[in-house]
Amino acid sequence: MSACRKAFLVAWAAAASACRGGAERGTERAPEVFGFGRAATAEEIRAWDTDVMPDGTGLPPGSGTVAEGAAVYAAKCVVCHGSTGQEGPFDRLVGREPREGFPFGRDPRLLSQRTIGSYWPYATTLYDYINRAMPFTAPGSLRPDEIYALVAYLLYLNEIVPESAVMDGQTLPAVAMPARDRFVRDTRRGGAELRE
Ligand code: HEC
Repeated sequence: MSACRKAFLVAWAAAASACRGGAERGTERAPEVFGFGRAATAEEIRAWDTDVMPDGTGLPPGSGTVAEGAAVYAAKCVVCHGSTGQEGPFDRLVGREPREGFPFGRDPRLLSQRTIGSYWPYATTLYDYINRAMPFTAPGSLRPDEIYALVAYLLYLNEIVPESAVMDGQTLPAVAMPARDRFVRDTRRGGAELRE
């Protein structure tokens, strides 16, 4: 055995024994205060607290149109998602095939066809996702008006809203996605229990 490995094993055995000893005696308790860190400020919490829920809870003030979204898309998204949202090189954002049925779970070959139009159950997730993750190279850099506009444009390209659509905190949660009823609430509790 190498000297290094032996030293590691000895140290590990000593640590294990010390931990076991503490547990057996039942005397070691976590201190109430560890003595480091500080409470997050309201501003810091606000900066992280950006979740947008399926019902629209968390959507900020602002709005955007399809035309405005087309301009932002051309400047910041087209290089990775293609001029019509279908060409890539990265994820395809536009497509409604197959129009009938929902075969994704049965046929793994179709998984690559999942798009906003054919698969996403909630329009509000688009806001949440673009806000936290896109553009890939500069996540968090878009303003609410730009995100609302991009969402309007992508929903329009997927033939879900008309070209005149304006997206904001009221109109976005009201958009009915084609795949909305294709999902059930997962009520498992982390184990093998059956769904309710
Ligand atoms: C540098 C390349 C790049 C740029 C620029 C970019 N994206 Fe993406 N986008 C990606 C990659 C890579 C993924 C897949 C990420 C993953 O699966 O974790 C993705 C995924 C997405 C998805 C999720 C697709 C799905 O169905 O899962 C959306 C929506 C999206 N991008 C929108 C945008 C928008 C809007 C912009 C412009 C503001 C943008 N992207 C700019 C690379 C990019």
